[in-house]
Amino acid sequence: MNKWHGKVKSPHGVMFSKLLGLAAHALAEAESKPEPKDLWQEPLDPAVSWTPCANQRSWETCEGNNGYILVSATGGINQQRVAICNAVAVARLLNSTLVIPHFSYNSVWKDKSQFSDIYQAEHFIDYLKADIRIVKELPVELRSLDLEAIGSLVTDDEVMKESKPSFYLKKILPILIKNSVVHFVGFGNRLAFDPIPFELQRLRCRCNFHALRFVDKIQETGALLVQRMRKHRSHSAPLEQNLLGAFAGKPDMTGLKNLPSKYLAVHLRFEIDMAAYSMCYFGGGKDEIEELEAYRAAHFPALTLLRKTKKIPSAAFLRSEGQCPLTPEEAVLMLAALGFKRRTNIYVAGAQIYGGKSRMAAMTSLYPNLVTKETLLSSSEIEPFRNFSSQLAALDFIACAAADAFAMTDSGSQLSSLVSGYRMYYGDGRLPTIRPNKRRLASIFSKNSTIEWKEFERRVRKAIRQTKQVFERPIARSVYRHPRCPECMCKINDTIALLS
Ligand SMILES: *[C@@H]1O[C@H](CO)[C@@H](O)[C@H](O)[C@H]1NC(C)=O
Ligand SMILES: *[C@@H]1O[C@H](CO)[C@@H](O)[C@H](O)[C@H]1NC(C)=O
Ligand SMILES: *[C@@H]1O[C@H](CO)[C@@H](O)[C@H](O)[C@H]1NC(C)=O
Ligand SMILES: *[C@@H]1O[C@H](CO)[C@@H](O)[C@H](O)[C@H]1NC(C)=O
Repeated sequence: MNKWHGKVKSPHGVMFSKLLGLAAHALAEAESKPEPKDLWQEPLDPAVSWTPCANQRSWETCEGNNGYILVSATGGINQQRVAICNAVAVARLLNSTLVIPHFSYNSVWKDKSQFSDIYQAEHFIDYLKADIRIVKELPVELRSLDLEAIGSLVTDDEVMKESKPSFYLKKILPILIKNSVVHFVGFGNRLAFDPIPFELQRLRCRCNFHALRFVDKIQETGALLVQRMRKHRSHSAPLEQNLLGAFAGKPDMTGLKNLPSKYLAVHLRFEIDMAAYSMCYFGGGKDEIEELEAYRAAHFPALTLLRKTKKIPSAAFLRSEGQCPLTPEEAVLMLAALGFKRRTNIYVAGAQIYGGKSRMAAMTSLYPNLVTKETLLSSSEIEPFRNFSSQLAALDFIACAAADAFAMTDSGSQLSSLVSGYRMYYGDGRLPTIRPNKRRLASIFSKNSTIEWKEFERRVRKAIRQTKQVFERPIARSVYRHPRCPECMCKINDTIALLS
């Protein structure tokens, strides 16, 4: 199967041909020069002073006597992860018992995997037993209840985004007490990040960073990806322990002749759903415009309607505002400008890249050592995952989380955001993430036909350097994405950090 297969007949237009030419030239010249020294680093001093501590608890377990909470989590695997940990916190808040979350079937991701196909259910129950009670199924006597009829079914429409704990105490607790069960349907980002009691916030982090471990099947194959990328060099024991469990650090005999190496993982969030949803234009002419419009009509009817009834911003305006997902060409230009050498080993995460092979051509010609899970694994190794997009996404999660450097192309992507939080938590200040500010990049790219390479390089580096700064989680931002906060990580006194 060819990963980059495109659905359209004519090749997609390539934007930025002049800059791509300059990049090829610059990469050839850079062969003999050293890499910029901060390329594979985080600003170490401030970053190492944060260490994981969400495993510490200072409360008694709760019996979970206030009824049962059922959750049907929608979206892809990463949205579901957020839903699980929010549900854990709500269960504790309400002193109720959590039933292992159910994953709803989603027409975009088309995957029937359930919780225990992805995560180790026993570990999840056991790790959190000092916090909440978790069971695999509802007790028999509650199973036959018509939850909708008795008012125990609560949909996403009835719970505001980022609801405060007081909402759950006022509106949900009475239902639990009356009916002994509440079923949340949806339930992604339905619990606020602030204000939340300290220990409850810490529990959310404990869930995300400690209680959720991938099943053996995923860990084993994820470990193959990491070993093949890294060629035997292992790092950060806690990260590998959590990510790969018993499969951490095992040598991969097929790669023995190769020297250890660093790798960069890039999450290209440029699938057709993203391209269509953005309402942007990507240089593919009439074919592209028609194809994306047809996709919107089929999958995002509300957007098509909006287009007909309201004046919405032009594609050019959206681009200038930094509202468009980075294309593979933009991503590769950014990497070249940052100073990644032509030989860099690059792991590309993502599903079917929109525009297929022709859209990837710029990237593969500038960086020939570019691989994906499909090219790293043999067909028999990947076969057990083929029909399971969530499990494939879990493999990408592992390869990105363990990479020496990670670049995202869309900060709104749930995979990128969870991976970057994971790297902060377990990375020991040594696993940098590149998060482009799309608005600034858009302004640099708008000069594409006149800008000199040196100037392009200088401006891109400056823009990225600013996003690498280490800071404490801003108020109301996700603890999964920004675990550098006292609830999730402890700050070592700077004096002590310097001595160690
Ligand atoms: C949950 O249990 C704790 C400790 O027993 C108690 O302080 C708290 O009020 C209870 N909360 C609810 C919502 O029942
Ligand atoms: C995947 O689906 C195809 C077609 O439905 C089926 O033939 C194949 O056995 C499935 N593979 C796995 C690993 O489930
Ligand atoms: C590339 O440069 C041209 C000419 O300056 C400009 O019109 C165009 O908008 C730029 N492309 C992008 C994607 O910014
Ligand atoms: C760090 O510890 C030293 C010695 O215990 C103390 O004097 C200093 O105030 C502490 N610094 C901070 C930022 O807490």
